[in-house]
Amino acid sequence: MSLNQLQDLQTTESVGDWVAADFRLANVFTKYGIDFCCGGDVPVGQACAEKGISVKTLLRDVQTAQATAAVGEQYNDWSIDFLSDYIVNQFHAYTRRMLPQIVEYAGAVANAHGAQHPETITIAALLPPLAEEMLDHMDSEEELLYPYIKQLVQQGATGSPLKPPAFGSAEILIEEMDREHEETGDVLEELVELSDGFTVPDDACNTYRALYGFLTEFEATTKKHIHLENNILFPKAIRLEKQLAVA
Ligand SMILES: [Fe+2]
Ligand SMILES: [Fe+2]
Repeated sequence: MSLNQLQDLQTTESVGDWVAADFRLANVFTKYGIDFCCGGDVPVGQACAEKGISVKTLLRDVQTAQATAAVGEQYNDWSIDFLSDYIVNQFHAYTRRMLPQIVEYAGAVANAHGAQHPETITIAALLPPLAEEMLDHMDSEEELLYPYIKQLVQQGATGSPLKPPAFGSAEILIEEMDREHEETGDVLEELVELSDGFTVPDDACNTYRALYGFLTEFEATTKKHIHLENNILFPKAIRLEKQLAVA
């Protein structure tokens, strides 16, 4: 589905598909607490029913978002080898840059404010394992999955023979990546709940403010990162792998 098909959006299609067609809709779903990244495979109609909002209300917000925000990048129209490079340069680089800083700030905030705000101690404890998991996960994507996606694209273009990967297939590895995305999503949700949506208390110092500012950006950026993989890159890679296998 691409942007010019948006007028044909069906509520039987998934939340992830809608956001893949137009990233401006991410804000609309977020407003209603509808997950568009790890849990984005739910049909839009069902997601609305679960949150108790009418499809009509949602569609009004969709129209407003499309009328008022710039179109932005058309990720769904990009070739998947280009998209994988973009994810590495944009999102993996950001994650590697930010995580050490976030871990350090969270430790400092827990030390200084843990007595008055015990949730900061839990937040500081959740972050190092999250960082370790995300760094390992991105290494797997960059060392195994993404090079294989590039091979798939190359084979599609040239007809050159494809060597079966040591990890079995894109589909097998992607199942593992999806599971890891869900684990990351769960920790992010926990951080949001613990911090009441990263709300800074009145007695917060500058480090506390900076930490919650970083976490706000990190949560939104990571959701977009996972969305681009789960809802665009991965399904397209699996489809291409299947097409090439029968060709
Ligand atoms: Fe990634
Ligand atoms: Fe990923």
